[in-house]
Amino acid sequence: MCGIVGYIGKEQVAPILLDGLARLEYRGYDSAGVAVYSQKKQALCVHKAKGRLQVLSDMLRGGAAVDGTVGIGHTRWATHGAPSDVNSHPQVSQSGRIAVVHNGIIENYAELKSFLMSKGVEFTSQTDTEVVAQLIDYFYQGDLLEAVGRVLHRIQGAYALGILCADAPDQLIAVRKDSPLILGYGEGCNFLASDVTAIIKYTRDVVYMEDGELAVLTREGIQCYNHLMQPIEKEISHVDWEIDAAEKGGYEHFMFKEIMEQPEAMRRCIFPRIRDGEVYLEDFGLDESYIRSMSKIYIVACGSSYHVGMVGKYNLERLTRKNVEVSLASEFRYMDPIVDDHTLVIVISQSGETLDTMAALREAKRLGARILSIVNVVGSSIARESDVVLYTWAGPEIAVATTKAYSTQMAVLDLLGLWFARVLGTVEEKEYRSVLEEMLLLPGKMETILANKDNIQYLASQYFNHDSVFFIGRNVDYALGLEGSLKLKEISYIHSEAYASGELKHGTISLIEDGTLVVALGTYSKLFEKAMSNVVEVKSRGADVLALATESHAEEMGKTADAVMTIPDTHDLLLPSLGVVPLQLFAYYVALMRGCDIDKPRNLAKSVTVE
Ligand code: F6R
Repeated sequence: MCGIVGYIGKEQVAPILLDGLARLEYRGYDSAGVAVYSQKKQALCVHKAKGRLQVLSDMLRGGAAVDGTVGIGHTRWATHGAPSDVNSHPQVSQSGRIAVVHNGIIENYAELKSFLMSKGVEFTSQTDTEVVAQLIDYFYQGDLLEAVGRVLHRIQGAYALGILCADAPDQLIAVRKDSPLILGYGEGCNFLASDVTAIIKYTRDVVYMEDGELAVLTREGIQCYNHLMQPIEKEISHVDWEIDAAEKGGYEHFMFKEIMEQPEAMRRCIFPRIRDGEVYLEDFGLDESYIRSMSKIYIVACGSSYHVGMVGKYNLERLTRKNVEVSLASEFRYMDPIVDDHTLVIVISQSGETLDTMAALREAKRLGARILSIVNVVGSSIARESDVVLYTWAGPEIAVATTKAYSTQMAVLDLLGLWFARVLGTVEEKEYRSVLEEMLLLPGKMETILANKDNIQYLASQYFNHDSVFFIGRNVDYALGLEGSLKLKEISYIHSEAYASGELKHGTISLIEDGTLVVALGTYSKLFEKAMSNVVEVKSRGADVLALATESHAEEMGKTADAVMTIPDTHDLLLPSLGVVPLQLFAYYVALMRGCDIDKPRNLAKSVTVE
C-alpha cells in the first residue's frame, strides 16, 4: 500500500532510492517517483513515472542521471487519483520548495484543499498527499519542523510521511500515524523506509516509529519527537535476517521461492516450540488461570489470514471445547461485537500492518479483551500493540499472494490450540502426543509434495484455460477451499469461488454445467464418503473434477474424479497445512501458463494499510 524510502548521507542518493523502492515494489506498483535536492541547482529535482519502477529507473539511467545526496522516493498504490505521472509521489508544493512522499490516506483532504485554494494555492494533482505538501509550504516561515508540527494538528487519517525541503536540505523529516515507518541508522547517513527490506543492504540498526512520532534525520544522527513535539530516546533494534531472504535467489518469482521455502519456514516455526513432547510457547504472557477463565475466543483477520482463522475455528473448538468465532477484521470493527475481559482475541496478520486488522485489535482492546497476535513481521504495529505476540518466523514474504505465512500462521494456531487444550484438560494424552509427533513430520511431508510439483504443473496445463472454478469441501476442507480459491483468483484472474459442499444444492449447483472446473477437496477422512457423494453430484452435471485427497483415499477418489492431487496422510487437525501446498502450486502454475504477473497481481498490494 505504497512504499516510501528516504536517505540523507554522502553517497549519491538516487541509486539508493531506486534500490530501496525495488524492494518495496510489492507494496504498490502503479507508479513511482523520487525527489532529490540538487546542490548545483540549489533546488529539488523531482522525477516521476506512471507504471512499474523500471520505467522510472530507465528514465534516470539507474539513478546516474540525478545528482544529490539527500532524497525521498515512493512506489504507489493509488487511492486518491488514478495512476498517472502527475498523481505519482513525491507531491510537491506550488513553490517547488516542499516535497512529500506518503503512505496512507488524508481523510480531511477535501476541506484542507478548499481552504488552500481560497488562499490562492493552485493544485496540480488529484491526490490527498498534495494537500500535505502545500499546507507545509503555507505554514513554512524558515522552520520546517515547526511547519510540519502545525500541519500535523490539521490533518486527519493515516499517514507515514517523508518530507524534504529545498530550504533545509540538510535534513529529512519522517512522521508516522497508523501507517508503518522505520528509521535506519547508518555511518554518516540515515534512512527512513516503510519496511526493513528497503534498507537492510545498508544498515541493520533500526527504530520502529510509533503512532504520533516524528523524526528529524540529518547526516549525523536522528532526533525523534513524541506527539507533543518533545524530544524522546528510542530503542534501536537489530535486524538479524540476511538480505538473501528478501531476494529471489535464482527463482523466477518470489511466490514460487516462498512456496518452496515452506518446509524450512515450518521447521523454524514449529521445532523450537515442541520440546520433550510438550508445546513450549516462548515468553508467553497468558497464565493458566486466564486460559481457564476464557469465555470465548475471537479470531480476527483479513484475506488469507482470515482463512487460517477459519481452519482455526474447527481445530480450536475441537481441541478446547471453547466457543470460537471468526470474523473479518473489516466487519468486526463495525459490528458491535460481544467481547469482554474474558474474551481472548487472536489477531492474525502476516504484515502486522493491515489497517482493518489493526482497527479491530484496538476495538477489541477497548472492549477489554486480551489480544494475542500471530504475526510474521517482527516489530510491526500489530505485534507492538498486542498483549502477547507469537511470531511465525516465516522470514520476509515478498510475493503479494501469501504462502509461507499462511502455513506458519496455521502451525502457530495449532500449537496454541494444543497448549490451551492441555491446560483445559480437553485433549487426551494420546491425541496430544500424536498431533505433536505429526507436527514434527509436517516439513518433511511438505517436501514430498513439493518434490511432486511437476505433476501439479501437468494438471495446471490441463485446466488453465477454464474461466470459472468452484472449490468445494466440508469442515477443514471447506476452510482450505477458501484459501485455494483466493490463491487461484488473485494471481490468475480466473473467476473462482469456494463453497461448503453441503451448500451446493441450495443454489450454487445451478452454475455447474459441462466443463465447469470443480476442485473437490476430500482430505478430511471422517467426511470422505460425503466428499465422494458431492463429487458424483457435480460430475453428473458435467463438471470436470480435480480432487485433492490423502494417499490413503487417492485411489478411491480417482475412480470418480478426473484427476487427483495427493498429499501424505497426517493427523486430521493438520490436513490443511499439507493440503494448501498443492493448491498454491496449482494456482502458481495456472497463472504462469496464463502469462500473469504473478508477484504483482493487478490492483493488489502486499500490505493493506488503507481501509
Ligand atoms: C492473499 C493475501 C491477503 C492477505 C491479507 C491480510 O494471498 O495475502 O489476502 O492475507 O491482505 O494481510 P496480513 O496477513 O498482512 O494482515
